Amino acid sequence: MGKTVLTFIADTHHYSKTLGISGKAFAFRSDSDQKCLKETGEIIDSAFEFLSKSDCDAVCIAGDLTNDGERVCHEEFREKLYKLKENKKVYTVTATHDWCCDQNPRRFSGENVYTDVPTLNHNDIYEFYKDFGVNDAFAEYRTTLGPASYAVNIGENVTLLGLIDDKNGRNSAGYKKEHLNWICEQIRLAIKNGRVPVAMEHHLLIPHITPLFTKGCCSPDREKIINAFADAGLKIIIVGHSHLQRIDRYLSPNGNEIYEINVGSLVGYPAPMVTVTADENKISVKTEYLKSFALDGEELDAQKYLANHSVRVISVLFSAAAQNDSELFRQRLEALGINTEKMGKAFLPLFVTFRQLSKMTVAQAGAYINKIPFAKKIPQNSIDAYSSFTVQQIAEKVWLNILDGAREKYAPDSDFYKVVAGVFSVPVCICNKMKISGKPLEIFSELQRAIDEILTGGSLSNEALKIFYKI
Ligand SMILES: [Fe+2]
Ligand SMILES: [Fe+2]
Repeated sequence: MGKTVLTFIADTHHYSKTLGISGKAFAFRSDSDQKCLKETGEIIDSAFEFLSKSDCDAVCIAGDLTNDGERVCHEEFREKLYKLKENKKVYTVTATHDWCCDQNPRRFSGENVYTDVPTLNHNDIYEFYKDFGVNDAFAEYRTTLGPASYAVNIGENVTLLGLIDDKNGRNSAGYKKEHLNWICEQIRLAIKNGRVPVAMEHHLLIPHITPLFTKGCCSPDREKIINAFADAGLKIIIVGHSHLQRIDRYLSPNGNEIYEINVGSLVGYPAPMVTVTADENKISVKTEYLKSFALDGEELDAQKYLANHSVRVISVLFSAAAQNDSELFRQRLEALGINTEKMGKAFLPLFVTFRQLSKMTVAQAGAYINKIPFAKKIPQNSIDAYSSFTVQQIAEKVWLNILDGAREKYAPDSDFYKVVAGVFSVPVCICNKMKISGKPLEIFSELQRAIDEILTGGSLSNEALKIFYKI
């Protein structure tokens, strides 16, 4: 048996420049997004050129193909897919951003945001993308919204399951019972035929780093779904949506192991491309990152450019806090998808913490925190190691670790770890001092726990993996 090589990307979120790329309204939108907007065309072109020349058998895209389902974004993106298809097989699944599920498409001009943007209806997706999935499939399951899950054989030994998990019948992500049964049937069939089933869907089945960040990215039926998949024999599922690069392992109550590969957004840092190779006895996973892309005739370092763009979401938060503008701070959090209403009383200590730290170096912040009688002390030698860094710079490094699954790892005994853990203990100390308990304390305590996962990357590598099996 030979080997089959699939490369997965996700959340290409193509944005058409015709929707506006300048003005105050666009700048606010762009600065509130970790991924790029106006550069998506160039980034996707460079990635597709790289993938065209790579040795993979197929390129697979795990949903959120377009910015927000705008028809013009779909049309431009599909042209790119057809070009890629000249050299590679291409398989896509769509997701909620591809039919604008919030019915709030936007274009930007000057200070104004307009919603008069034609979108692709979910009923039109099946026809529109049929050359990138269902046309090659030997089986398909049409969902009530219109798009179809499909099963396609690739190479000598893989069956790819492209799954549409838009709705579970109760207005949340997931699958209706009949759909879930169909998927499990395809998994079992692939194994029976001596093929390795590899599934891709858009939403997560395992909340990672902390449920605070990613529980909302999962289907509410996630345990039922992942148990069904694992027990049917699926070993690997590729997801997108969170825009974070991550690998997680799950063991079903029946003792069946499954790995979830969350592929980060191609148009945001770190622009991952995850290659899954299946041979006679193992699946190997390897992650590469887009090295460069051409913009305005210049070849740019993609990692530097995307990292600089990604940290804008942090710098604008610090800037709002430094201006003591709690409303702007709230708007920036909201634009990041953080529901400040739900935060309740946790909002104030968070804002106060940001305001205090916004203009400080680590030396100043360390001295300040270590003077708070009720705060946990940060070792002085750890503060000294990062004394000239601003708190904002440290926050930006942490943010990049969240996005890239800790390509740079910080062990618990490192100075960086001790400084960050010390800073993250402050909101908990403030809550305790102000006698704020319940939800806010729970949130900040969970954040403290999550920081270990963020800095160390957790127990598994988030970019490489080997799964051994017998078909
Ligand atoms: Fe997305
Ligand atoms: Fe999504």
